[in-house]
Amino acid sequence: MKKFLIINGPNLNMLGLREPDVYGSLTLNEIIAHTETRVKDFGFDLNVEWYQSNIEGEIVSKIQSALSIDITALIINPAAYSHTSVAILDALKIVKKPIVEVHLSNTNKRDEFRQKKLTAMAADVIIEGQGKNSYLLALLSQLL
Ligand code: DQA
Repeated sequence: MKKFLIINGPNLNMLGLREPDVYGSLTLNEIIAHTETRVKDFGFDLNVEWYQSNIEGEIVSKIQSALSIDITALIINPAAYSHTSVAILDALKIVKKPIVEVHLSNTNKRDEFRQKKLTAMAADVIIEGQGKNSYLLALLSQLL
């Protein structure tokens, strides 16, 4: 069975409450349930580990832990750390598997400070602006 690790960065545990006009009204758990249901509808039976942390170093350690597990791809929404974290970029560069960076919103249409995405320099695929379908599309990008 194919295994995926999906890492979510700071404030994504607040989805549902957080700027619903930008990120939608679903909680992270509801997006997880939506993703798992829809991916099964597409006929895929996957082992997906979901991880969320508000702490940069914990995210770095989780990325490092992916080196010792057999994953098909690493999917990450680094959230605000995408725009600031050299440490997360450097950790992602160590990963030998495909990396998909996800943003629920289309950051290209947003603030100037969101235009720079350091972590995207390590990504093979970038999915933006797809809201609750973002993680589903990230998985499908590695399955189709
Ligand atoms: C985000 C976009 C980032 O700019 C922001 O800081 C987030 C969420 C997104 O999913 O659209 O926290 O990564």
